[in-house]
Amino acid sequence: MQKTDTALSSTAPSGKVLRVEGGSPLYGTISVRGAKNFVPKAMVASLLGHSPSQLRNVPLIRDVDVVRDMLNLHGVDVIFDEEEGVMILDPSHVDAATPTEIDALSGSSRIPILFCGPLLHRLGEAFIPELGGCVIGDRPIDFHLETLRRFGAEVEKTSEGIRLTAPAGGLKGTQINLPYPSVGATEQTLLTAVMAQGITTLTGAAIEPEIMDLINVLQKMGAIISVDTDRTIRIEGVERLEGYSHTALPDRIEAASWGSAALATRGDVFVRGAHQPDMITFLNTFRKVGGAFDVEEDGIRFYHPGGSLKPIVLETNVHPGFMTDWQQPLVVALTQADGLSIVHETVYENRFGFVTALRKMGANIQVYTECVGSAPCRFQAKNFHHSAVISGPTPLHGADITVPDLRGGFSHLIAALAAEGVSHVSGIDVISRGYEHFMSKLLKLHAKVEYV
Ligand code: EPU
Repeated sequence: MQKTDTALSSTAPSGKVLRVEGGSPLYGTISVRGAKNFVPKAMVASLLGHSPSQLRNVPLIRDVDVVRDMLNLHGVDVIFDEEEGVMILDPSHVDAATPTEIDALSGSSRIPILFCGPLLHRLGEAFIPELGGCVIGDRPIDFHLETLRRFGAEVEKTSEGIRLTAPAGGLKGTQINLPYPSVGATEQTLLTAVMAQGITTLTGAAIEPEIMDLINVLQKMGAIISVDTDRTIRIEGVERLEGYSHTALPDRIEAASWGSAALATRGDVFVRGAHQPDMITFLNTFRKVGGAFDVEEDGIRFYHPGGSLKPIVLETNVHPGFMTDWQQPLVVALTQADGLSIVHETVYENRFGFVTALRKMGANIQVYTECVGSAPCRFQAKNFHHSAVISGPTPLHGADITVPDLRGGFSHLIAALAAEGVSHVSGIDVISRGYEHFMSKLLKLHAKVEYV
């Protein structure tokens, strides 16, 4: 297996504009590989092992590059066969890095915060830099810091960032109750508790499939973790973990994004690798909107069956609800539904910025601070524009637009593909954070796209 350079080949060229000639259906077959919201976390877990880990189905996306560079910086030897998607991670020489070095690498991702638990176990100290990630809300880290404090870590805010130190006797198991089922804080707890002394009980945990797969990985390494049906996770700390061998679960957000693209363009796309059990809620909604799908052994075919699409009332939520990350791509299809659709976003307070561009392209979308269409959420009366009413069908026309964030960016792309005429999409490289080879996939689906 050859060690390769950073996966620039998989990313869109920075500064380039994508010219999209829309108005034709997407059709054909593309594949999805391992989940963006799982793979980097499994890479971090390798830090806890005393022997090398092997991770398969690794996609070529920028978040994977960032974590690979961060692991390299901390002395983990990472060998990546990009074509096969197989990564070997050897943590035999874990070492500390300076805040300046960490800061230089972590800018575009939120994963670096998950290095804390493993590094506190391995080195007794860790450092949290200024975090990146999409601007879709405040995205505080208070749950993470409180969790780490509960394990006994000392948390000190410095001018460079946040420095954490383990107590002399090491981290100790604890009781944690999350005020909201945060994905990241649940992962933080898991990655810290597995080697903390004694038992940790986490209530109010997130139970997304990506978290379950992280538990699979940790169990393979030697951890003892049980999950109850009431969002309680119980972890018995162990003294030593080994490396793992694991195939990452497929990316259900990418699969749903291509499904939404098929629907919005009146197309027919087979997504090889799409996994029905992780997408049940999406598939139900897709069907209610009027989309059709066939579940096959090796993937799911998403298509527009003809006729008009139906409006829906939708609320995003934590698993097993409708994922917030599925919302933005699907909204483009809702602009083509016959009537009023309501979307209430309850996970992030600021995830409707992308509709400005859709309006410019002809969509009729109003956003509201109220909790429209369903029960009040934690953003009620807080002045966040977190509900949208979409009135369709409205023909979309090409426009010059700029990608605001990862999922919003993909929805812009879908809108440009569905619209009559030519669009120019700027800031397209953001999409490489989470969509592997999206340009070659677009071309495979007969999209008329080119960099200009
Ligand atoms: N929150 C806090 N304090 C915290 C942590 C979270 O208030 O310390 C709040 C957030 O502000 C947000 C809510 O809790 O309102 C949920 O955040 P969560 O911690 O669950 O999100 P995350 O771990 O930062 C991951 C994914 C997101 C995905 C969410 C929800 C990764 C790298 N990111 O974020 O993915 O939307 O879970 O499923 O796993 C994306 O892929 O485009 C993306 C944004």
